[in-house]
Amino acid sequence: MFIGKKILVGVTGGIAAYKAAEVISRLRKQHAEVHVAMTKSATEFIAPLTLQSLSANPVHVELFDEPKLWNVEHISLAEYIDAVVVAPATANILTKMAIGLADDFLSTVLLATRAPIFVAPAMNHAMFHHPATQANLTILKDRGIHALGPDTGFQACGTVGDGRMSEPVEIVESLARFFGGKDWLKGKRALVTAGGTREPLDPVRYLGNRSSGRMGYAIAQALQEAGAETVLVSAPTDLATPPGVTRISVQTALEMYDAVLAHFSEVDVVVKAAAVADYRPAVQAEQKIKKDGTSRTLELVPNPDILAELGRKKTSQILVGFAAETENLLTNAQHKMQRKNVNLIVANDVTKPGAGFGSPTNIVSFLFPDGRKIDFPQISKLEVGRHLVREIACLLGVDTKE
Ligand code: C5P
Repeated sequence: MFIGKKILVGVTGGIAAYKAAEVISRLRKQHAEVHVAMTKSATEFIAPLTLQSLSANPVHVELFDEPKLWNVEHISLAEYIDAVVVAPATANILTKMAIGLADDFLSTVLLATRAPIFVAPAMNHAMFHHPATQANLTILKDRGIHALGPDTGFQACGTVGDGRMSEPVEIVESLARFFGGKDWLKGKRALVTAGGTREPLDPVRYLGNRSSGRMGYAIAQALQEAGAETVLVSAPTDLATPPGVTRISVQTALEMYDAVLAHFSEVDVVVKAAAVADYRPAVQAEQKIKKDGTSRTLELVPNPDILAELGRKKTSQILVGFAAETENLLTNAQHKMQRKNVNLIVANDVTKPGAGFGSPTNIVSFLFPDGRKIDFPQISKLEVGRHLVREIACLLGVDTKE
């Protein structure tokens, strides 16, 4: 994807600066020519020598250093590169970019370049949610700058929240996508379900599951990137809606059923990545259930199987189901494919490390009713989404040959 591409990696001074090493290394492994510009504070977190060795190019820090390559380096570099990715991008660099401040090498290149710019924000969640940071991000996005992430998760400050830098693998894949973008699904409509449904027991408790929603969100993003008009019916998750995707939020399986069925006749593709509760409590208590020291039995009643219902109702739609299993993966997946009348089933052994719930990566196989099977190694969920998009496009009769 990156053969012949010259990419400037900008590194700013956050704890995630060490992850820039992986971004650079991955870009180089995919044959990009990588240049690096660091802010002074970034050099406190990771040595320029590390990034110089990984990029195989001198690292730029100061504006008035001895020229390493050309005269007026920031201008020649700004014109030379095909893209800039700032990873991590601190609140400070986002502010400087938003107001056009150029007081060091990186910020000057960012002002001088006309190449596409990507930023991977990384900061403490309070800084990320500060209205100033949010306003700056809006300004940058309106200007066409691509914001990648941030993710939600454990932060160096010891808290959990938004502001963690996107995984290097995902940053590099977004760039790859940018350079190799395809519009296979332009004019098509897609519906994706994601997350784990919650079945209320009383006003404060519910029966839920471990689904993080990451897989479904990644698929929605991949469908949208491929040009499909995409609706995401989402059970509760901590994830941000992918840009350009329309999200409908639901809680329970019955709400998901209603939302999916309401859109089904209008769409060309449905991907059911949600973990839908098979049962719900027979009664939902109006008040919080009080403990009284005795054992209790919970009566459960079955929820509708949304996918099976779509399988019965489908006309020309392509249906994709998931089989998240803990044993007999392929046999269970094959049965599901037949029982639910789907065109493709994604088999997913959720017990493997690097696969399943919460993980940014997954290990899956695609199974088709004609007996075909495609196995994938451990790849990011976004990459699984992109492979799925390609298969969906083929099933819709689109020519996906390079
Ligand atoms: O039968 P099982 O729940 O294992 O099948 C998984 C597939 O069926 C997933 O694609 C899931 O979204 C879908 N499903 C559904 N409605 C349910 C249960 C599962 O659409 N009630």
